[in-house]
Amino acid sequence: MEKFAMKRVDDFRLRLGKKELVPIMVGGMGVDISTAELSLEAARLGGIGHISDAMVPTVSDRRFNTKYVKNKLRQFKFNVANTDKAIVKFDLGLLAEATALHVGRTMEAKRGTGLIFINCMEKLTMNAPKETLRVRLKAALDAGIDGITLAAGLHLGSFALMEDHPRFRDVQLGIIVSSLRALQLFLKKSARTGRLPDYIVIEGPLAGGHLGFGMDWSQYDLVKIVLEIRDWMKAEQLDIPLIPAGGIFTGSDAVAFMEMGAAAVQVATRFTVANECGLPEDVQQEYFKTSESNIVVNTISPTGYPMRMLANSPAIGTGIRPNCEAFGYLLDSNGNCQYIEAYNREVALHPDAKKVHVMDKTCLCTHMRNFELWTCGHYTYRLKDTTRRNEDGSYRLLSAEHIFRDYQFSTDNKIALPD
Ligand SMILES: Cc1cc2nc3c(=O)[nH]c(=O)nc-3n(C[C@H](O)[C@H](O)[C@H](O)COP(=O)(O)O)c2cc1C
Repeated sequence: MEKFAMKRVDDFRLRLGKKELVPIMVGGMGVDISTAELSLEAARLGGIGHISDAMVPTVSDRRFNTKYVKNKLRQFKFNVANTDKAIVKFDLGLLAEATALHVGRTMEAKRGTGLIFINCMEKLTMNAPKETLRVRLKAALDAGIDGITLAAGLHLGSFALMEDHPRFRDVQLGIIVSSLRALQLFLKKSARTGRLPDYIVIEGPLAGGHLGFGMDWSQYDLVKIVLEIRDWMKAEQLDIPLIPAGGIFTGSDAVAFMEMGAAAVQVATRFTVANECGLPEDVQQEYFKTSESNIVVNTISPTGYPMRMLANSPAIGTGIRPNCEAFGYLLDSNGNCQYIEAYNREVALHPDAKKVHVMDKTCLCTHMRNFELWTCGHYTYRLKDTTRRNEDGSYRLLSAEHIFRDYQFSTDNKIALPD
């Protein structure tokens, strides 16, 4: 006799505009870890996938053989040894072009009933925060993106930056917050545009990438934050889909949030070991192999936000010369970056050294570009339980479809292993 039929994620649907979706959103993973291929699989399966707008010219070079990085480096080569990077600006026309390529080609390849969004980071200040963000947002809208998730930062002016775009009222726009306060601030600052977000991702302290918490992150609990935001929304009579993220590792974890009133979940870490993920396979094996004690949250990101990563990431402690002439995505509005300061300090302290070590900050652009900073979610150490081992002892990569369907159909906290 069937007793209590355990619910599955598939018993729920996410309504966004006129769409009914499988309530699984694969989160944006910066610098092409959540590739077009991965996002296309999520969309094909009826959910939502994300590409990322981090370092798109670099990503375009890799995908389409363009030469944006080489040309920028050539243009600013004269400045490489200069500690002042204020002059190293992005060409806004080329930035729009690269975004149009990345987004446009991805949208052309879309199949199925799901959606493809772009994760857009406010902290990617690019030596002209407002201008470059406006170009990235508008170029993504022009190229037909289904939605934009505003991430990594407060985005207090981002709605205003796109409000004159013809698609502003039709495209799906969402925001990632880690507290009720951040949500309230966003809504207050965006009210003037007469538009609410279409969905709200609530990211807790166990997520991968940058955290919206301080180094006291472990004091926070995603469930509590979700309930607080849910209850406030109810009191304000605001009806916007809430999408928790961070540490949702099984279909049952997802169902628990749906039963609390969430409209969908955003997940990422499980997909870092998918064939379609952008990480090189040797790095994916490191994710599989890792132990819990090897997963750390530190402050080496020059953005100022704590970031979670594997402690054996090659990026930690290297002292490479800042690569702002080629990259420069984290330069603030004055052309500064915390890594440049840390690097210059070490060079001044060790004037005769051939190589310096910089322990407190890292050159995030270079190391993310080269997959040498292994950012990951808290539960990465459980990935080994999601697959089988090959004869040589390595772990078998999974298809994105397998992982997606496991979230969609599993019950009882079970994880389906590949055939
Ligand atoms: C490798 C990796 C890279 C990430 N990069 C970004 C990013 O560039 N921007 C962002 O907003 N979130 C980023 N995240 C966070 C995810 O989008 C997602 O919200 C979160 O990791 C979900 O938790 P989970 O990984 O435990 O499923 C990243 C996560 C991972 C695992």
